[in-house]
Amino acid sequence: MLFPAIILAIATSSLGCAQATNTTESENDYLNALAAAFADAGLTALRDAAARLSNTSYGRTIVSRLSQGGNYTIFAPTNEAFSGASDELASNDELLARLLSYHIVAGDFTNDNGTLASSLSPNNTVGRTLLNDTGVVQLEGNKSQVLVWSSLNDEIIIQNQALNITVLQSSVVPNTSVLLNSINGFLAYPTNTTSTLVAHNLTSLTGLLESTNFTASSTGLNRTLHTGFDEMAHGFTLFAPNNKAVVDAGDYLASYAGNMTAFAAIVGNHVINGTTLYSPELKHAGTLTSGSGEGLMFTSNSSGTFVTSTVGKSHVASARIIASDIPTMNGVIHIIDHVLLSVYTDKAAAKSAYESMTQSSGNQNATATETGAVGGQTMQSANGAVLSKAQLGNKASGLANMALGVLGLTTLRAAMI
Ligand SMILES: *[C@@H]1O[C@H](CO)[C@@H](O)[C@H](O)[C@H]1NC(C)=O
Ligand SMILES: *[C@@H]1O[C@H](CO)[C@@H](O)[C@H](O)[C@H]1NC(C)=O
Ligand SMILES: *[C@@H]1O[C@H](CO)[C@@H](O)[C@H](O)[C@H]1NC(C)=O
Ligand SMILES: *[C@@H]1O[C@H](CO)[C@@H](O)[C@H](O)[C@H]1NC(C)=O
Ligand SMILES: *[C@@H]1O[C@H](CO)[C@@H](O)[C@H](O)[C@H]1NC(C)=O
Ligand SMILES: *[C@@H]1O[C@H](CO)[C@@H](O)[C@H](O)[C@H]1NC(C)=O
Ligand SMILES: *[C@@H]1O[C@H](CO)[C@@H](O)[C@H](O)[C@H]1NC(C)=O
Ligand SMILES: *[C@@H]1O[C@H](CO)[C@@H](O)[C@H](O)[C@H]1NC(C)=O
Ligand SMILES: *[C@@H]1O[C@H](CO)[C@@H](O)[C@H](O)[C@H]1NC(C)=O
Ligand SMILES: *[C@@H]1O[C@H](CO)[C@@H](O)[C@H](O)[C@H]1NC(C)=O
Ligand SMILES: *[C@@H]1O[C@H](CO)[C@@H](O)[C@H](O)[C@H]1NC(C)=O
Ligand SMILES: *[C@@H]1O[C@H](CO)[C@@H](O)[C@H](O)[C@H]1NC(C)=O
Repeated sequence: MLFPAIILAIATSSLGCAQATNTTESENDYLNALAAAFADAGLTALRDAAARLSNTSYGRTIVSRLSQGGNYTIFAPTNEAFSGASDELASNDELLARLLSYHIVAGDFTNDNGTLASSLSPNNTVGRTLLNDTGVVQLEGNKSQVLVWSSLNDEIIIQNQALNITVLQSSVVPNTSVLLNSINGFLAYPTNTTSTLVAHNLTSLTGLLESTNFTASSTGLNRTLHTGFDEMAHGFTLFAPNNKAVVDAGDYLASYAGNMTAFAAIVGNHVINGTTLYSPELKHAGTLTSGSGEGLMFTSNSSGTFVTSTVGKSHVASARIIASDIPTMNGVIHIIDHVLLSVYTDKAAAKSAYESMTQSSGNQNATATETGAVGGQTMQSANGAVLSKAQLGNKASGLANMALGVLGLTTLRAAMI
């Protein structure tokens, strides 16, 4: 049995785990209820896999957190789904623990019918998973990685997976606040920005950036910039023009060929640096500040969400978001249908923003946890305060202000390496 095995390991420290957490009687009851539900649903491969959580300290934090109760939404691959998972999973406990933690979403997503709540496509529901291993997730404030889903034709489809993964059955586990959803595949967590851009065929964008010679050395890689991206880009929102958009903007872009200042401004205008905003949040974001200091105004109607570059009251360029919520290990990409053509920069805005970022950095180490959908009714800030939507917009704007065009470019440059 899955959870009893975990409990045994925990209670006796039989695996020699110094960090093993003792569970109380009620916590044991809770884990037993979950184990029974897994068994009832025939999820024996998941049961066996979950027993291995106690083999790693990361896995033990997951078990410990679950055992304390609370609202969780578990995505449970069927036995068949497990048989299609990579061979490495069978022997790599660290990988398994990370993957399983990506299958658990914090919060209550149960609809009135006792099944999984979901927005209708193209709108998405975004949930915060328990995956927070810093080796594979580097979002601002040590936030955990998100999972995105949406419903289409009465089916709930998990987004951003190579395979078409759908929810087969949902039910609330008796005596718990856990919604168990069986799925027909094993979920993969987001990877770095490079591989994510490539996977989404954003080749014109990456090609464009490559042609601007941000490669700092003849060997092709400026180590400083690369390191800067990996170590400092903890949280960003990138509006990535698709291939057609870049081709359509060809004449304009060609007119700035070789002008690094102009390219930095253009690309910086597509980035909100320091904060990762998903589509439900963008709908209420109002106007934020881009990496080059321009305004980025968000509007939403029945035909979608639009992003508009603004300078003062002027609307400089506009694009529609055609694919939302593509997470990477340290940010999120939204694909847009036009390049936001503007070489405007506002260094004063960048400077004041930098100062506001410095002030808020005290919150950066806290773990933020939403209690429901990301961008839903309320959100928890990094220090635990509940923010209103308006406050959220201001906070995002302040963090975003610190962005600098050139740094935005380095993100993308690094992403191509
Ligand atoms: C678990 O409980 C035992 C007995 O009460 C105690 O000796 C041990 O220190 C506890 N371990 C942890 C990690 O709390
Ligand atoms: C679980 O969700 C319900 C309904 O959304 C809420 O009332 C309750 O406070 C939540 N429990 C916890 C522990 O967050
Ligand atoms: C609940 O089920 C009914 C009947 O299938 C359906 O009409 C309704 O939309 C469902 N409600 C939710 C919140 O999914
Ligand atoms: C990750 O989440 C766990 C609880 O699930 C928590 O104990 C741990 O401190 C978090 N790690 C980081 C790096 O925030
Ligand atoms: C996903 O697969 C299901 C059946 O497994 C199918 O009904 C559905 O149409 C597929 N959806 C997409 C978007 O391919
Ligand atoms: C991104 O991930 C890919 C695939 O795992 C890997 O080959 C590549 O080295 C990574 N790039 C960076 C910059 O980490
Ligand atoms: C990628 O983009 C190219 C050029 O726009 C297009 O020809 C190709 O079909 C796209 N491939 C995929 C998988 O979308
Ligand atoms: C590499 O990047 C750093 C930091 O931006 C910069 O100072 C340096 O000049 C670059 N190196 C080259 C050879 O361009
Ligand atoms: C970019 O690199 C190419 C090939 O090395 C070179 O011909 C071109 O002059 C460079 N352009 C700029 C703006 O540095
Ligand atoms: C580069 O573009 C900027 C912004 O439009 C412009 O001010 C500057 O004069 C250009 N530099 C060159 C060398 O063309
Ligand atoms: C998606 O959200 C927008 C804005 O909230 C709304 O106008 C639209 O009706 C929604 N679309 C669907 C299919 O629910
Ligand atoms: C965001 O700004 C910070 C501070 O200026 C910088 O260190 C970081 O590299 C930037 N990140 C991106 C993705 O541009």
